[in-house]
Amino acid sequence: MSVPEKVLTNHDLAQMVETSDEWIRERTGIRERHIADEKDTAASLGAQAAIDALRVAKLHPEDVDLIITATSSPEHLFPATACVIQDSIGAVRAGAFDLSAACTGFIFAIEMAAQAIRGGSIKNAVVIGAETLSRIVDWTDRNTCILFGDGAGAFVLQASSEPGGVQSSIMRSDGSGGDALYVPAGGSAMPASLQTVQEGMHFVKMNGREVYRFATRVMAAGAREAVEKAGMDIEDIDLIIPHQANKRIIEAAARSLKMPMEKIVVNVDKYGNTSTASIPIATVEAIEQDRLQPGDNVVLVGFGGGLTWGALTAVWSGPLTEEPRRLHLARYRRIAWVRTMLRRIWRRIDAFLFGRGKSP
Ligand code: COA
Repeated sequence: MSVPEKVLTNHDLAQMVETSDEWIRERTGIRERHIADEKDTAASLGAQAAIDALRVAKLHPEDVDLIITATSSPEHLFPATACVIQDSIGAVRAGAFDLSAACTGFIFAIEMAAQAIRGGSIKNAVVIGAETLSRIVDWTDRNTCILFGDGAGAFVLQASSEPGGVQSSIMRSDGSGGDALYVPAGGSAMPASLQTVQEGMHFVKMNGREVYRFATRVMAAGAREAVEKAGMDIEDIDLIIPHQANKRIIEAAARSLKMPMEKIVVNVDKYGNTSTASIPIATVEAIEQDRLQPGDNVVLVGFGGGLTWGALTAVWSGPLTEEPRRLHLARYRRIAWVRTMLRRIWRRIDAFLFGRGKSP
């Protein structure tokens, strides 16, 4: 995982909008969140998380066949943030694409990568959730700006002859609720213009109560369905790692599933809602706290804009306890930068020598 250094507390927010630490903690469970500075981007945070995940899995960036980046705050409409990460970590053999399913994106991306491995077309995938939501949040809107934070997390998925990994999954959407949580402008439906900027239409808009009702309904139902599909009972589950949007939503799901809170990972207090990054960040912290052991049955469950929701049941085959591989991101980045520059220069020479006046 990788989060920016800067921390924004509820007390800091109370200086910016009409709110209070008490209100935010009571309604959401959030105490603070990390916020990107000028040099952090979704890709830079995602690249750091990807390299750390490869280090634990003892893989080289050149071993990676597929990179999926789930993100709600991509660097551009295109190219994909996944391609920026692929270039910066030197994963020269990997196909890379972004997956857009708001906060559920990480669950959908894991399912896609697991199926590509099961189908036999790839061996090693890196799945990343990476966000700089602070760039698309309206810092004058107290309904939304208190909720979100920045960060990234990554999983490595590998083909293995040992049984384990993803056992079942569900992926659901209800586009009729798209207007409950969305960014109106900046896409092709409402291209950026002076008016969209003046009206703040490129910021996140949310109907908080509607999203809350939807989330409490689908979180428990999704988890239950994924567990049943795996042929298990809720009692067989050792740990649930839910999307971290609001502590009350997680507690409501726990009550509905009759699951004790000790079996549910909650760290929304420290990071706020980091959208696609929240599940991998919560997983890393669960591993660091020895709450997740090899062989454990784990449920990942998420929900978000779209509306979308999804859940999966997995037998945890990591974490790997041996000494992680030494990989120096800075060195890979330098090599990747030189390679990128050389390729760009070569493209220009190629166009100059062979491309003038011709169309393909
Ligand atoms: N500080 C203080 N007061 C606030 C406030 C803030 N940051 N935000 C809203 N309020 C006020 C409202 O204006 C309202 O005042 P009113 O009664 O005078 O109109 C009052 O608090 C209650 O607002 P309400 O929207 O009903 O609060 P709530 O209990 O539903 O909590 C959310 C608001 C946003 C925390 C809650 O709806 C939520 O978490 N929804 C889900 C959001 C989410 O998870 N989104 C991401 C999904 S991936």
